[in-house]
Amino acid sequence: MDQLKRQAAARALERVRDGMKLGLGTGSTAKHFVELLGEKVAGGMKVVGVPTSEATRAQAEACKIPLTTLDAIDRLDLTVDGADEIDPALNLIKGGGGALLREKIVAAASDRMIVIADDSKWVDVLGRFPLPVEVIPFGLAATQRAMAAAFAQSGVSGQMVLRKGRDGHVFVTDGGHWIVDAHLGRIAEAPRLAGLLNLIPGVVEHGLFIGLATIAILASGQGIRVVERR
Ligand code: A5P
Repeated sequence: MDQLKRQAAARALERVRDGMKLGLGTGSTAKHFVELLGEKVAGGMKVVGVPTSEATRAQAEACKIPLTTLDAIDRLDLTVDGADEIDPALNLIKGGGGALLREKIVAAASDRMIVIADDSKWVDVLGRFPLPVEVIPFGLAATQRAMAAAFAQSGVSGQMVLRKGRDGHVFVTDGGHWIVDAHLGRIAEAPRLAGLLNLIPGVVEHGLFIGLATIAILASGQGIRVVERR
């Protein structure tokens, strides 16, 4: 599986050109991309990156990839990131690693977003992977009630679980927020649910990435498949 992730990352790297401003994703697949990009930089390629998490920042620094911020530059040319699920419209579920807020800010500031993944992430309908929703700790129960109403309005329902870290404590994001994982099973109308969740005050951001990915690079035992958004 790790080999497939690396193959997808390597294929994405072929689309990186000298001088590009890049969004650097988070997770076990994006990690391969950052590592391979570091090798290119060591070989003389000139790029600058904006990391989507503190973990990616640390890795990029170790790989000596020059970094910048979205305050210092206008737009990014390209973001390369992984995903937890990808549907045929190239809508995504992201946030399994807890970095969805910065990932979405960076993707939205990019002209293009390439999603890299092993083929197991490809689904007909989003939702089997629990949808991560980043929330403000204050008023959590009220936010969850509002989320349940949004789910009902878009025809889905399911258990909401406050994410815990490996140490058993509540998982805290890079932004200091919490994550509620919503086990919805099947999200028939993902854009509609995304819009409804955006209206809830206690929701900082959610893991539905609608209309952000432009290309998916999917690696399987049979080879690599490239899907472009129409
Ligand atoms: C991080 O918050 C996530 O959005 C990851 O990009 C996503 O979970 C994919 O991670 P893997 O590449 O580790 O599967």
